[in-house]
Amino acid sequence: MANLYNGKMAAIYDAMYQNFIDYDEEFNFYNNLIQDYHGKTVLEIGSGSGNLSKRFLAHNTTYIGLDYSESMIAIAQERNKKGIFLHGDMRDFKLEQPVDSILITGRSTSYLITNEDLNNTFQSIYKNLNEEGTLIFDFIDANRFIPFTKDDEAILHEAPFEDLIYF
Ligand SMILES: C[S@@+](CC[C@H](N)C(=O)[O-])C[C@H]1O[C@@H](n2cnc3c(N)ncnc32)[C@H](O)[C@@H]1O
Repeated sequence: MANLYNGKMAAIYDAMYQNFIDYDEEFNFYNNLIQDYHGKTVLEIGSGSGNLSKRFLAHNTTYIGLDYSESMIAIAQERNKKGIFLHGDMRDFKLEQPVDSILITGRSTSYLITNEDLNNTFQSIYKNLNEEGTLIFDFIDANRFIPFTKDDEAILHEAPFEDLIYF
């Protein structure tokens, strides 16, 4: 699997995503779901640059982040000095202790491109989730996305962030 977020790409990703994702809104949505199912411990797979991590940690959640990109982990760790971030692959990972909730957001499931990737990921998740635990994940909604790409031949995303504009 290629790592798309090496070195400076991780910092650019971090800048762009903060421009178009409302992490406060995301945190409230996912945290409410986790609380509804009495989740006390959370693993975020594809924790990226640690924007959700920051909010979980601020709420004193027992939180672990896991990501395939060491550059992303470095940014997340810098942002969350006391956070626990593991370098690993969602298709094959083993935590010391299973958790109550596993969360995959920001369309990180899009990186699973074969049936084998998907099966391996779900097996790993199953092994690392407590009985009655909760798995929460998002994905790209093709029904919304594909009509949009048909109407617009060129899709340009502009993300101003800290005196720079990213395209
Ligand atoms: C689009 S980013 C989303 C990050 C974060 N969830 C957010 O919303 O800001 C996808 C993340 O998934 C990670 N990733 C991709 N494949 C992975 C894998 N096989 N195992 C763990 N993480 C993976 C990438 O390194 C990247 O940090």
